[in-house]
Amino acid sequence: MKHNKMFVENCWYPAAWEYEISAADNKLARTICEQPIVFFKTESGEYCALEDRCCHRAAPLSMGKIEGDCIRCMYHGILYNTQGECVEIPGQDTISNKFGVRHFPVCEKGHLLWVWMGNPAQAHTDDIIDYPPLSDPQNWRGFATPCYLHYDANWLLIVDNLSDFSHIAFVHTHTLGGSESYAYESVPEELEKLPNGFRLERWHYDSLPPPFHAKVLPAKERTKNVDRCNRVEMYLPGVFLMDTIFTSPSKSKSKGKQDCRQYRNCQYMTPETRHTTHFFWNYLHDQDLNNPAISESLYESLMAGFMEDKVIIEAQQKILQADSSFDPCFILADKALSHFRRLWNDRLRNEAAQYIPAQVTESKNRIL
Ligand code: FES
Ligand SMILES: [Fe+2]
Repeated sequence: MKHNKMFVENCWYPAAWEYEISAADNKLARTICEQPIVFFKTESGEYCALEDRCCHRAAPLSMGKIEGDCIRCMYHGILYNTQGECVEIPGQDTISNKFGVRHFPVCEKGHLLWVWMGNPAQAHTDDIIDYPPLSDPQNWRGFATPCYLHYDANWLLIVDNLSDFSHIAFVHTHTLGGSESYAYESVPEELEKLPNGFRLERWHYDSLPPPFHAKVLPAKERTKNVDRCNRVEMYLPGVFLMDTIFTSPSKSKSKGKQDCRQYRNCQYMTPETRHTTHFFWNYLHDQDLNNPAISESLYESLMAGFMEDKVIIEAQQKILQADSSFDPCFILADKALSHFRRLWNDRLRNEAAQYIPAQVTESKNRIL
């Protein structure tokens, strides 16, 4: 069956950092997979996600008002509960049970609010890929405010970028990479293919620490060679987790060291539309936890690096959008991204096979 679905829906997508919702007066308008949604926190502290379009005249509920455990549309005052059911129409005693808006299951984990875009009956919160360092301030210190970036690019282009670290030698030579030699001298170990993603490890032996790491080292260590390991995990729909480990060259060959410096990094790519992406990330370290200067320096370095990615990926998006007939040439380094895209396409096909397209009928009461 030919389908027009663009996104896998039966999966959990990161939708917002918790602080983004509180900073927006407890209700945030955000489009996920081309579906406008209002995310809000009720007065009793429950998170909720509803279609951001009142069933009356289509005013956005994100312009509404939270009242107890409900949200009121501030155009003509219809009140909705957390399930999206219409529970009050001012000046009217009866309410058709057809009145209401779509409700999306949500769950908070790791200070992120996750949303389920598919069949609510299949939403199990145990399936959310939790990242323990985000909830472990005793051992890991991230940014005081975890980061959000908006990308003018399809999220799979960002997944591609993170699936092949040879790019850090060229895109991030002076920030995250350190030198172009990274691409030639560091070789990824065997790709571990998983049913929902992949794992990959890449060592770079006996080279100068890259600038972002050198900046947070004591001065005498900055010019000493290190071994560097990036241990990457990528999961559907776009969850990237990475351990980065630096050790002195003699110790790392055993790979069983305790006295190393480590980082933990999470990056989440959530489609906003087919051409734009919500990008959430944090970078955590395990050194001198109460020294805020380390996080501040890492933030500056990493943000500079991520902007380098953004520039090249958004440029790529423009070229691809201008001519969708482009057929890429594959190189050895594409193994991981090819595996991921295959998984994605399989999931999309499986969902599409069960998908019953909504009947598109012309409304008899169009208001626009
Ligand atoms: S548009 Fe929402 S109550 Fe009228
Ligand atoms: Fe990058």
